Amino acid sequence: MQKLAIQGGSPLNGEVNISGAKNAALPILCASLLSSDSLHFDNVPELNDISTMCKLLQQMGVTIEANGRQRVLSAAHIDKLEAPYDMVKTMRASILVLGPLLARFGEARVSLPGGCAIGSRPVDLHIKGLQAMGAEIQIEHGYIHAQSKRLKGARIFFDLVSVTGTENLMMAAALADGVTILENAAREPEVVDLANCLISMGASIEGAGSDTICITGTERLHGAIHCIMPDRIESGTFLVAAASAGGNITLTNARADILDNVLEKLQEAGALIKVSGNLINLQMHKRPLAVNVRTAPYPAFPTDMQAQFMAMNTIAEGSSMVVETIFENRFMHVQELRRLGAQIEVEGNTAVIKGCSRLEGATIMATDLRASASLVIAGLAAQGETIVDRIYHLDRGYEHIESKLSALGAQIRRIK
Ligand code: EPZ
Repeated sequence: MQKLAIQGGSPLNGEVNISGAKNAALPILCASLLSSDSLHFDNVPELNDISTMCKLLQQMGVTIEANGRQRVLSAAHIDKLEAPYDMVKTMRASILVLGPLLARFGEARVSLPGGCAIGSRPVDLHIKGLQAMGAEIQIEHGYIHAQSKRLKGARIFFDLVSVTGTENLMMAAALADGVTILENAAREPEVVDLANCLISMGASIEGAGSDTICITGTERLHGAIHCIMPDRIESGTFLVAAASAGGNITLTNARADILDNVLEKLQEAGALIKVSGNLINLQMHKRPLAVNVRTAPYPAFPTDMQAQFMAMNTIAEGSSMVVETIFENRFMHVQELRRLGAQIEVEGNTAVIKGCSRLEGATIMATDLRASASLVIAGLAAQGETIVDRIYHLDRGYEHIESKLSALGAQIRRIK
């Protein structure tokens, strides 16, 4: 099991290049199943989740040529319409092959994704939407078995805002017969990036980024070239790290227009932020002020930034309240932060944090992707050495995080 050893107390200074967005790349890789032509993707992040998704697609017959952060995918010869349990259980986003397989081939067998550390994470809205489009779906032996001659356009209302639910149905609707309206759709920027990729493949999609998306199905989709958008959660994570450890960092190849809520919260914490083009500069030369956060679907405060802000709040001046409204168990980082001396009380989906002037390094354990980032941030701000164990969680969603942090002056190294 690999670990990270962090000597806390060093400020972060310098430039860090932001990688392509994991949560845009994952659905966009699945969009390759919708066409027999090749798709050329650029700025694909080098992450374990991306490799897992590529393996899943390759075992179906998708050919993938990799060249650095470029990928060329061709789904011209698909000979298997299945996403097996042993692959789906390691990455829930595998569910994103369901819509495209069903829409193009009329059949799909996708293992039900298990729950994960942060919640049960059902996929009932994905299934309900496909049924509304005419799919026959049986759940048998832990698999979703879906069949349909040709999906039909339908009006679908999401009881809950679901990011991958919106993405799955948008991809299915792109090849359906007729018009599909997705209401109460997710507005996340990654949904917009997927829509832009589908439109470049010839899909007819209006309203992506709003809560009502209208898709007019076409007979087929053609090849395209698409550059993956920058990762807003990686961006936010580095900004919170610098706000916690202090220093002066500049993100390159970043987008500030999709981080409004996060940037406002950082300014509330006392950080100085300057934006110019695709650069975001943050300076913090004092102890952060505690800030309250309440997660909600985009454009509200992102749940994927909750754990990182909690880490900052543990050493901030004052008390704060963190409310997690999206997932039922996304406080796994709390007990680990407490091991560093953090003062956090949890009641249901609300955590109250009393900022303390210093945390003491200790050995702690990562439990899920964003919790791991929270522990790294706390380790950077703590006095002494912190060892973060089980960092495979971190490698799923952050590209070479310790190299990027070392380049900013952090004393951090990976222990094999
Ligand atoms: C996406 O997960 C992201 N993953 C998550 O990022 C992110 O935290 C989440 O959206 C919320 O923003 C990817 O995009 C690959 P949801 P997703 O469907 O789509 C409930 C990370 O750290 N729900 O928007 O799985 C669900 O239980 C990951 O990068 C149903 O009840 O999340 C949750 O409470 C973690 N039925 C809420 O909706 C369904 O059919 C939002 O889930 C679907 C969802």
